[in-house]
Amino acid sequence: MTDAIIIGGGSGMGLALARTLLAHGTDVTIVGRSADRLAQARTQLERPGHGKVGAVTADIAREEDVAALFARVGQVNHVAVTAADATGVYGRTAAVATATARGVIETKLLGAWLVGKYADGRVTDSITFTSGINAYRPNGSNTVMAAANGALASLARGLAIELAPVRVNVISPGWVDTAIWDQLDMDKQAAFADLSKRLPARRVGTPEDIAQAFASVMHNGFVTGTELHVDGGHRFV
Ligand SMILES: NC(=O)c1ccc[n+]([C@@H]2O[C@H](COP(=O)([O-])OP(=O)(O)OC[C@H]3O[C@@H](n4cnc5c(N)ncnc54)[C@H](OP(=O)(O)O)[C@@H]3O)[C@@H](O)[C@H]2O)c1
Repeated sequence: MTDAIIIGGGSGMGLALARTLLAHGTDVTIVGRSADRLAQARTQLERPGHGKVGAVTADIAREEDVAALFARVGQVNHVAVTAADATGVYGRTAAVATATARGVIETKLLGAWLVGKYADGRVTDSITFTSGINAYRPNGSNTVMAAANGALASLARGLAIELAPVRVNVISPGWVDTAIWDQLDMDKQAAFADLSKRLPARRVGTPEDIAQAFASVMHNGFVTGTELHVDGGHRFV
């Protein structure tokens, strides 16, 4: 039995969300593909007086993994999904392998759909997905990721009707300094410095900025079928 599942909770925004929820006494199960990553995260997260930490190895793109995850966890209050793999996705569409594009769609979009499918009847309060700024500010790269991110908003609206009164929402982060950038062949620090000058917020995001937004949407009983932009104003520059 756990209160919240975070698929992608082994690093980045998902890990920050796990830390936030645990500090409020929520029991959290973190999920990802790498058992080592989850074990390291669990060691960081476990604190006396905080919620209990569970870890389950699963690939959100594999239906049998998602089915087994929900069968194992049983009833749960909240599910958050931050899972994404950006390996090989950066570049012009003509240069991206079709298998990579399929992998992005299978993880980000169909993975979220599988969560909706197997959460039905098991989740009591909320499901929250993660999209991203590239759906709204295309930059000549990452186009298939942008397409998957854009589709998540429609998926959430559909599931919000289907699964009601369970609330289904999306958080759309701007640029946030996490390990996902290490998968991209670019000068991260230079890109962050350049964007920070132009962004209304004058800085890139932190995993904690996004975790706060997740916690707010998860716990506000009147927010459903909504996409919340947590991007420092990136859509306007
Ligand atoms: N960072 C940014 O600037 C940014 C901006 C906009 C949107 N986003 C979105 O924000 C979300 C969180 O990203 P992040 O920055 O926190 O990246 P991250 O640190 O790389 O976290 C992604 C997590 O997802 C897990 N994961 C990847 N593929 C998975 C799969 N198939 N099944 C289960 N777990 C999987 C990874 O663990 P394993 O590898 O062990 O599975 C990892 O722990 C992503 O959806 C990303 O697209 C990020």
